[in-house]
Amino acid sequence: MMPHRIIEGRLRRAVQTILPAADTTTVLVRPCPDPAFGDYQTNAVMGLAKAHKLNPRKLAAEVAAKLDAGDLCAKVEIAGPGFMNFRLRPEAVEASLRSAARGEHLFFEKSDPPRTVVVDFSSPNVAKPMHVGHIRSTILGDTLSRTLRLLGHNVITDNHLGDWGTQFGMLLAGWKTILHRDALAADPLSEMERIYKSISARCDREKPDFDPALRERARAELVSLQSGQEENLAIWREMIRLSQAQFDTIYARLGVRFDHTLGESFYNPRLGQTVEDLLQRGLATESRGAKAIFSDHSLPPQQDPFLVQRGGEWMANPLIIQKTDGAYNYATTDLATLEHRTQIWNADEIIYVTDGRQQLHFHQLFAVFHRWHPESRTRLAHVWFGSILGEDGRPFKTRSGETIRLADLLDEAEERALRVVSEKSPDLPEAQRREIARVVGIGAVKYADLLPNRQSDYVFSWDKLLSLSGNTAPYLQYAYARIRSIFRKGEIAEPGCRGPETEVSPGAPAEMALAKHLLNFGLLLEAVATEYRPNFLCGYLYDLSGLFTRFYEQCPVLKSEPAVRQSRLVLCDLTGQVLKRGLSLLGIEVLDQM
Ligand code: ARG
Repeated sequence: MMPHRIIEGRLRRAVQTILPAADTTTVLVRPCPDPAFGDYQTNAVMGLAKAHKLNPRKLAAEVAAKLDAGDLCAKVEIAGPGFMNFRLRPEAVEASLRSAARGEHLFFEKSDPPRTVVVDFSSPNVAKPMHVGHIRSTILGDTLSRTLRLLGHNVITDNHLGDWGTQFGMLLAGWKTILHRDALAADPLSEMERIYKSISARCDREKPDFDPALRERARAELVSLQSGQEENLAIWREMIRLSQAQFDTIYARLGVRFDHTLGESFYNPRLGQTVEDLLQRGLATESRGAKAIFSDHSLPPQQDPFLVQRGGEWMANPLIIQKTDGAYNYATTDLATLEHRTQIWNADEIIYVTDGRQQLHFHQLFAVFHRWHPESRTRLAHVWFGSILGEDGRPFKTRSGETIRLADLLDEAEERALRVVSEKSPDLPEAQRREIARVVGIGAVKYADLLPNRQSDYVFSWDKLLSLSGNTAPYLQYAYARIRSIFRKGEIAEPGCRGPETEVSPGAPAEMALAKHLLNFGLLLEAVATEYRPNFLCGYLYDLSGLFTRFYEQCPVLKSEPAVRQSRLVLCDLTGQVLKRGLSLLGIEVLDQM
């Protein structure tokens, strides 16, 4: 990898050399919003000029005059209040394509220095089936992890399994009284869910079947589990084992792997000490028998996660870390988890991927952590997402109103894709049709999840997500297969255009537009990783396919004279490589033939 081959990176460093004070944590050089003004743009000068009370246009002109980038851009234009616009020299574009064709890079560079990033995602709860809500966490988290890893970071993925807590009291009571062994053997998660639902309904004071004795029993089971009673521990371990086996089948289907699955229970031995420490430092206080953390009033009330407005008044909204009955909770575990990740794993950054309903929890958690360890430089991010809606605009449920299980959803995706494939290519052998259906079906579900801005709710529509036209995974997979078919038709072995002698000169406008888009791949990956937005990558790949289609319509490849043909084949090959790599970051596979 030769970093200086990446044009955007070179421009960024050139600007940085002249403006060492420019804020490098934000994107310095980005594509020009309007290509009529240039290929890249920076607004670095404007911020600096403002900070030092200088004339931004004058400063921009001075920077432009000193900029060491003459081989990359013909001239630098100053626009508006002090934007600098760069227009690439065609030779610079060619040089970058050529080095990519030689396999020296794929338009991105590794981050220097790399950071240690913990990604906490998926995190389903034991004894409950994974539902569609967990799919978003799994898929978003997986994409972010893959992208950060490709950019050279030291990524630690951790599945923070919900394997501890009050639900086990009811599960244990149910396991011992109403468990059907046969049902458990056939479908463990459904049976565990059944016993949980049945017992919890009878432990609920508001419900008609309320049974105070059973409630007492559940509480006693929990206490004995927490005090380490062997029988209960053994049942609890069995519940985890059965759940984990089913989660693993799903992860295998999705192609998702974790470095760790520590789970909430891992932190159990540290919870007492965590609360003790917070009390000693005066961060937590005792309040009506519970231990809780209150506002330190360092923020205006509107931004203070420890306050809520009720009836026009600001009331305390503390974070409880130990309940009146002595039990620790989700927050206590998360605080202990944070210490582990920062102190043992030396995380520079921790990313939590969960649905939007947990925003308050993470606001409070992060605020407490900063008060607890003010010296910590770890960046904490809650990457939250909206819900999946059915086509009726209501939460996505089965016809009978049950939550949809991830396993059923994936089955249906593959079945539907198989129908489409069998219609289109009835002559393919069944095994091949099934393999295509798997890749297309799973890919389509993942893409539908990644495409919208993650914070908006999105409507789940089978017809839309499996469509071959529009911004879908099948469309992008098809674009890739079409590129491969050019090579098949021309009987050109893949590396045929990846040699040291490779020449490439994108002459036609459609070729140049495609080439310049390829050059932006790395910049885009950086944006995905810093803003935690995989949808940027979806948009990029969709545009790439569109630019490729235009190029392919306007510029004959196989029928051109040898030099042009060679150059165009390089563009096809590089487009294919970027498509494949980009999709792989989204966890989506490609096929040479569809
Ligand atoms: N198990 C939780 C749930 O299903 C998600 C856990 C997220 N991670 C964390 N460290 N709190 O809602």
